[in-house]
Amino acid sequence: MSMRMLGIDIGGSGIKGAPVDLSSGEFTEDRYRVATPQPSRPDAVAKVLAEVVEHFGWDGPVGVTYPGVVIDGVTLSAANVSRHWIGLDAASLIADATGREITLLNDADAAGVAEMRIGAGRGRKGTVVVLTLGTGIGSALFTDGVLVPNTEFGHIEIDGKDAEVRASAKAREEHGLGWEKWAKRLGTYMARLEALISPSLIIVGGGVSKKADRFVPLIEGVRAPIVPARLVNNAGIVGAAMAAAAAHPVEVAEPTPHEVRKAGTTGGRQREGGTAETAR
Ligand code: BGC
Repeated sequence: MSMRMLGIDIGGSGIKGAPVDLSSGEFTEDRYRVATPQPSRPDAVAKVLAEVVEHFGWDGPVGVTYPGVVIDGVTLSAANVSRHWIGLDAASLIADATGREITLLNDADAAGVAEMRIGAGRGRKGTVVVLTLGTGIGSALFTDGVLVPNTEFGHIEIDGKDAEVRASAKAREEHGLGWEKWAKRLGTYMARLEALISPSLIIVGGGVSKKADRFVPLIEGVRAPIVPARLVNNAGIVGAAMAAAAAHPVEVAEPTPHEVRKAGTTGGRQREGGTAETAR
C-alpha cells in the first residue's frame, strides 16, 4: 500500500496544499488553494493553514514550506512575506493553529527534495543545485543527493543588487523583460553561482519552468547543464510531504526500533524533539 502525507506550500500569492502519494508524488485529491493573506502575518497565515488541514480532514502530521530560512522550526528571514515571521517559532505557531505535528522547511529546499527524489535530479550524484524562479529566487543545494539546507543563493549580490530583484520570474514580469533579456540576466546570475559552487547540474524550477524551452536554450556562459524541473508547480507540496514523512516514519510505515532511533537523531526538521517520542 502506498502512503500519503499532506503537504502545504506557503507562497507569496497563494497557499496550496494536497495529500501526496509518496511513491509517485501524485496528489491523491485535488489541490486546495487559498490566496495568501495580505499582509502575510503569521497569525493570518496560520489560520489559512488550519483551513487547508480542515478541508482535507487531515489527522496526521503535515509538511509545510516557508519562503525563507527555517532552522528547527524557527523562521529566520522574510524576503517576500511579513517581517513578523523573523525569529518566530513558526512550527509551534502552526502546530497550535492546526492541531497537527508540523515539519517546516524552506520552500526551495522542499522543491529540491522532490526533484531529487522523483524529478529531474533523480539519481544524480555530485553537486546539484535547484533554483526556483518565482516571486524570489530560491535555491536548494545537494551533494550526492543530500540536502544542504537554507542556502539562499537568490540573494547573491550582482552589480550591487540582490540577484532575485533582477532575475526572478517576478522581475521578468515587473520589468517587462523579453525572454532574451531575462535569459541574459539568468546567465549572469548562474555564471556567478557556478563560480562559487561548481555544480554538475542546475535544475530550474518555479511556475515559469513550464516554459523552459523559451528561455533555457538562451542562457549563455554557464558550463553546467541546465534542465527544467519536472514537478514544476507541485514540487513544494510534494517535497513538504516527503519531509514530513521522513520526520515521521512511524506514521508512514512500521519501522524497527532501530530505525526509529536513527530517525530521531537524523530527522532534523521535526519539532518537539521528535520521532522517537512519537514512536514510544
Ligand atoms: C527567500 C528564500 C526562498 C525564495 C523563494 C527568497 O527571497 O529568501 O528563502 O526560498 O525567496 O521563495
